[in-house]
Amino acid sequence: MSVTDEISSDIDASLARSTARSLEIERQLAKDPSRFRILTGDRPTGNLHIGHYFGSLENRVRLASLGVETMVLIADYQVITDRDGMGPIRERVYSLLADYLAAGLDEEHVTFFTHSSVPALNQLMLPFLSVVTDAELRRNPTVKAETDDTGDRPMSGLMLTYPVHQAADILFCKANLVPVGKDQLPHLELARVIARRFDERYGRADESRPVFPSPEALLSKSGTVLGLDGTKMSKSKNNTIEIGMTAEQTAKLLKRAVTDSDRHITYDPTNRPEVSNLVNLAALCLDREPVEIAEEIGDGGGGGLKKLVTEAVNEKFAPIRERRAELVADPGHLRDVLARGNARANDIADQTLAEVRSAMKMMY
Ligand code: TRP
Repeated sequence: MSVTDEISSDIDASLARSTARSLEIERQLAKDPSRFRILTGDRPTGNLHIGHYFGSLENRVRLASLGVETMVLIADYQVITDRDGMGPIRERVYSLLADYLAAGLDEEHVTFFTHSSVPALNQLMLPFLSVVTDAELRRNPTVKAETDDTGDRPMSGLMLTYPVHQAADILFCKANLVPVGKDQLPHLELARVIARRFDERYGRADESRPVFPSPEALLSKSGTVLGLDGTKMSKSKNNTIEIGMTAEQTAKLLKRAVTDSDRHITYDPTNRPEVSNLVNLAALCLDREPVEIAEEIGDGGGGGLKKLVTEAVNEKFAPIRERRAELVADPGHLRDVLARGNARANDIADQTLAEVRSAMKMMY
């Protein structure tokens, strides 16, 4: 077996384990949601699109509604890992918050916060960096993929260490559950390694309980919705439908969506990715089976398909868009929600940092 085969079979094995474990966690969540604290988050780099909605938002709303305590991080410091400037960061933070609230994460049960507002979270970087090696960070697959994307640009210290920062995001609030796509599994493994090593090196000798619990992944089906050109939906590819777009903007974009020359509509993701993606999108919005929808359109062609998808998307997102418009019209409310979330995140982070200082005998 070659080294690359070995690595990829390791990854397959870890994916299989995480998938099995996620099913078990789902059963426990249904039974006793109070055993869990979830942390999730996004970089505020632009408005959320319907790929985000079906890939992660909808799932987060479901989990929060089970009664699981949920922390949602607007990862503002992470914006500068792979770009030179901040962009209109303030607008983007509030716009992301509006997307979350409109999608159904409610501020009574969810704590929304920003990196830069929680100093004690960021301070965890120092002890955490002391327990990882540069070689470990250099072989992180996500760091590798992101540096490949940025071409020949030299890697910043922040890019190299952002998985450690992400471990601080998870561990500062002692989250034990992180809903992620499979690309994030190496990050979570690193968070577990850091939690364990922190304890081995600095752990409180007087107590058997570790400072940090070991966080687990809850795998979500990722990337189910592709962009309008049949490739990965991504803002940089200009192939997205944003959650906050109007019905007219949505119709116009869907009119431009790529289909193929076969008028008979079928659901065949392997051979007809673009057409099948639209069928799937309609199915997600209508909560129906893609094959059934394709059969119904039959010889209606690309035109019939696009008409149906447009109606389905616009109907599904109408209430979300209405709420979003109300939220955006009330910036004072958005500021309050974030201020309350930041205050709570600071309470939690201060408490954890106090435990860390005590474990490290740095109480002066
Ligand atoms: N990396 C995530 C993104 O790019 C955002 C994020 C930051 C995150 N810290 C996290 C996700 C901790 C899960 C856990 O959107």
